[in-house]
Amino acid sequence: MNTFKLSLGPFQGITDAPFRNVFKKHFGGIDKFYTPFFTGIQKDHAKNLQVEEIDPACNDVEHLTPQILSTDATEILRFATQCKELGYQEINLNMGCPFPRVANKKRGCGLLPYPEKVEALLNGVFEHIDLKFSIKCRLGYFEPDEIVPIIDIFNQYPLSELIIHPRIGKQLYKGEADVKRFAELIPLVKAPLVYNGDIVSVESFLRIRKEVQPVGEFMLGRGLLANPFLAEEIGELRVAAGELREVGELSKLSEFGGGRKERLHEYVVDLYEDRLRHAGGSPKVLGRMKELWSYLMYSFDDPQVIWRKIKKINALKEYEETVENLFHGELL
Ligand SMILES: Cc1cc2nc3c(=O)[nH]c(=O)nc-3n(C[C@H](O)[C@H](O)[C@H](O)COP(=O)(O)O)c2cc1C
Repeated sequence: MNTFKLSLGPFQGITDAPFRNVFKKHFGGIDKFYTPFFTGIQKDHAKNLQVEEIDPACNDVEHLTPQILSTDATEILRFATQCKELGYQEINLNMGCPFPRVANKKRGCGLLPYPEKVEALLNGVFEHIDLKFSIKCRLGYFEPDEIVPIIDIFNQYPLSELIIHPRIGKQLYKGEADVKRFAELIPLVKAPLVYNGDIVSVESFLRIRKEVQPVGEFMLGRGLLANPFLAEEIGELRVAAGELREVGELSKLSEFGGGRKERLHEYVVDLYEDRLRHAGGSPKVLGRMKELWSYLMYSFDDPQVIWRKIKKINALKEYEETVENLFHGELL
């Protein structure tokens, strides 16, 4: 129990630098973060990157791995060079994005049905790369077996880690992560393997962890966005030294004392204020906050009531009042 590590998966439009910094300030348990993917790195200067997103001066988290979505070795190497100049030690390649406008162009998980393209890409990358290189992928785009020949290719290269989300691209985020299939792949993979998918509670973590032993690294996703205490809750198991506690499905705020509601409130307000500062007071921040609330609502007893209130908001003042009401008013 002492040995597992937890990371937070990247979410385009949610887990940007302000999110990561504010999250880290308010909650523990996450050992490693990833940036949402970068694309279109066409020039040789770091200025081409959204600098705040990646500049170490704007990022307070200790372990951060920048991610790129690309099928062009030259672009990946350009990104790697810029990341190295900024002091990063690892980059991650996104081979998991399932959105049709990406995958239809044989990018993201759309590359997985084409082993020869994957091989050519990795050949090009590993010929020159001089920092750690990891990959995040799915079981396939159309079929869950597409990963098998791809793993043979991955095994030819010294990947620093392989993160597998056991869904296929066509599923998007629907249905269940196929934990059994992931477990079958474990003996085939040479690189350190990271499990990602459907960890939403301590109970689901324990169930999945048992199925995928001896994997020791787990990437949290929507479960952590919905319940920002999740990594702390799972982390407590480390302290419990091998003892598998009986734990039920967690965790509505109303069930917890111990300042939990206050901590969540402070986090949400801090994130909003930070985003507002970055956006120069623009109501654009509402989009990102709503996106977060589409997950965070599950911390509340009646998520749909919360969501109906949040989704119709279109002014900053209205947002601020609604959030105050949610935490101090009649709704909780
Ligand atoms: C809105 C949204 C944006 C995402 N953006 C990224 C991304 O930029 N890079 C990436 O590798 N995964 C991305 N993901 C996938 C998540 O990191 C994660 O792999 C996925 O949610 C599965 O884990 P979960 O079942 O624990 O949520 C995104 C997912 C969603 C729903």
